[in-house]
Amino acid sequence: MGSLGVVDGGGILVGFREDLESIPVYVPGRSIDEIRRVYGIAELAKLASNESPHPPFPEVTRALADAAGGVHRYPDDEARDLRRDLAAGLGVEPEAVWVGAGSSQLLVSCALAVGGPGTEIVHATPSFVMYTIAARLAGAADVAVALEADHRHDLDGLLAAIGPQTRLVYVCNPNNPTGTIVPHDDLVAFLDRVPDDVLVVVDEAYHEYVTDPRHGTCVSLVADRPNLVVTRTFSKIHGLAGLRIGYAVGTPETIARLRRTQPPFATSTVAQAAARVSWSLRDRLAERIAENAAERRRIEATLAELGIPYSPSEANFVASYPDDPADLAERLLRRGLIVRALGAVLRITVGTKEENDRLIEALREEVTG
Ligand SMILES: Cc1ncc(COP(=O)(O)O)c(C=O)c1O
Repeated sequence: MGSLGVVDGGGILVGFREDLESIPVYVPGRSIDEIRRVYGIAELAKLASNESPHPPFPEVTRALADAAGGVHRYPDDEARDLRRDLAAGLGVEPEAVWVGAGSSQLLVSCALAVGGPGTEIVHATPSFVMYTIAARLAGAADVAVALEADHRHDLDGLLAAIGPQTRLVYVCNPNNPTGTIVPHDDLVAFLDRVPDDVLVVVDEAYHEYVTDPRHGTCVSLVADRPNLVVTRTFSKIHGLAGLRIGYAVGTPETIARLRRTQPPFATSTVAQAAARVSWSLRDRLAERIAENAAERRRIEATLAELGIPYSPSEANFVASYPDDPADLAERLLRRGLIVRALGAVLRITVGTKEENDRLIEALREEVTG
């Protein structure tokens, strides 16, 4: 990577990386505060960032308050207690678990560990934009393979894109923004065909929401596969997006190497404490999973009724394909419903029952006039 003098306001500032301008900037969903300020709408529903519509469990909020009194000390850099709990629940050794500042940080760290100039990182498109960002941050070229016509990962296409320079393949399961899954048997057959020297990161950020029996986690596969890592997050079903905490599972040897790219003290004391309590209460997530699946079906049924194509989702959002996603997103916004237009996709996060009622009514009025 070369360096580039940047001229700003007449003076040369810093020798920034030459490729910096080509790294996409992560654009978050618009916040309730911003829309309230700009549009002056009081009643807003944020269905734009695939967050949980439910706040953390009360026990988690209490654990946060308790942990707050200790934040004059640095956190446990290795998150030992949380890793032990996660490992026990997942049936792996604590050394097989790696905790980070949201799965985004873990995804970036994986790229940093194997990337570098002259290397390539393969992923599907459309998929989670962090794969492109992570690849470019690592100085690698990102190779994007289009989804199949039915919005599913093109596994043969991904395999064909793997070349001598490929160091990493990301597989998003379920995929953001389409909500589609790679059935477990297909994923295992794919992993068997990926060369052993290529790291495969299976991103299971939305794994808990899946109800299709063909889906399965890859956590149980990591023990025999040093080139496989699975990432998960507390940001989605656990409702802790604002705390920034996620985890990855791999063989202890692989995890030890990947961890070297993580900044020290990446996860806070309060985030670790909250995640431990939320993890201990994970049986209670069944209710949220069932509610999400029922509400997802309701949104999909409305799209079908209105003749808007959509991809059947296994996550906490639905990807639809209206003629003009940006226009429909804007019209919904004016009704206080924040959804996300991403190219040809209008992505709607499943909200509370009441929020989904509002969305369904607004969609019917906007589309049928
Ligand atoms: C597929 C996927 N992976 C990972 C993440 C990152 O989640 P976090 O960094 O909050 O753990 C997201 C967030 O939207 C996502 O959609």
